[in-house]
Amino acid sequence: MRWRDMLRTVCWLLCCAPLSAAQDLVGLYLEWERDPTTTMVVNWVDLYPESSNTLLWRKEGASEWSTATAAHSVVAPSSLQRRQAHLTGLEADTRYEFAIGKAPDAKTQPLVFRTMPKDLSTRGLRFVNGGDTMATRERFEAMNRCSTALDPDFVLFGGDLAYEDGVKVSRVVAWLEAWTRTSVAKDRRVIPLVVGIGNHEVRGHFQGKVPHDAPYYYGLHVHENWRAYRALDFGSYLSLVLLDTNHTAPIEGEQTAWLASAMEQRANQQFLFPVYHYPAYGTTKAPKDLGPLDAPLSIAIRKHWVPLWEQHGISAAFEHDHHNWKRSHRIRAGQRDDANGLLYLGDGSWGVLPRKVPENGTAWWLAKAEAKNHLWCVDLRANGTATIRALDVEGQVFDTVELATARTQPKRSE
Ligand SMILES: [Fe+2]
Repeated sequence: MRWRDMLRTVCWLLCCAPLSAAQDLVGLYLEWERDPTTTMVVNWVDLYPESSNTLLWRKEGASEWSTATAAHSVVAPSSLQRRQAHLTGLEADTRYEFAIGKAPDAKTQPLVFRTMPKDLSTRGLRFVNGGDTMATRERFEAMNRCSTALDPDFVLFGGDLAYEDGVKVSRVVAWLEAWTRTSVAKDRRVIPLVVGIGNHEVRGHFQGKVPHDAPYYYGLHVHENWRAYRALDFGSYLSLVLLDTNHTAPIEGEQTAWLASAMEQRANQQFLFPVYHYPAYGTTKAPKDLGPLDAPLSIAIRKHWVPLWEQHGISAAFEHDHHNWKRSHRIRAGQRDDANGLLYLGDGSWGVLPRKVPENGTAWWLAKAEAKNHLWCVDLRANGTATIRALDVEGQVFDTVELATARTQPKRSE
């Protein structure tokens, strides 16, 4: 019996071997640099300078493979090897099979990626948001499984991924391995990532030099000209505006000027979500004898960025860093405005130990808050409405907010 049990265990391990083990990869992840309706960036990381730079890909159902040559870089100061294959000119809302190095044998079903729809007329779009992802690998993987079960089009992380502080490469490896083995949906589809920067991607946490102080963020993820702030436009129906809350770029100055221009250029985009790490309307980290809103970074965000969002209109802002769950009241010009205020959703508690939220009645800006691990699941529809749900690690929905319009009404605050 004992031998039979051992044999069964060995068979189980072989059948369930994670992808990373099967292909000797540390990580495999999908990102976007340009329009997700027609492009894809396939990234893979391993330990070997001499391994293949070739990506094979084909539309699902096609018999012939196309090949692409990935850019190869060393993720210094580690010896991790990253390959990055940029695919362009793809068809919208289409499944593509892909493989690394060589075509899989006939018995192996290849992995799949899917481009985003051209518009929302044929189907809605679902994405998941969270941040502060990995205190321990176990917590990270547990919430990843909850996210993957929702079958989202992509996952949007607002910083503080591996808690590597620009230094601890072993945590980067653990994060990549964990993500790789928990981000494949039931139909072999690898769920893409959109990743913002947080303090724990940076040596010293704030005012880091690029790329020196954030080598793993800039070495592993898509960025634009060595800036972590950028906009990602999904056709004309969605823009994600990723921002850097003083980790490697100051809030005021160049970044704010860029944001002003980015908001102006995206006045006609249907949905628009700013995404950033440190919150404007947080739940903890109050300076001594003061409240969370008195933190200098929060003040700077409210001074420089919030007026631009109020002026142009947003769908909701995703905030992180405080390791709690919160939904703000609708806020405009520094006070509650139920009719046309902005909604702030946070506060980054994917896979970390939750902290403590303000006592009931002591934080005017909070509609609800709990010290709780969670993710946000966002469903966008063609008619400009959206449903945003908060789920716990068991997959239970514990809060729902409906957007009646895609963005708040553009209006210059007084
Ligand atoms: Fe943080």
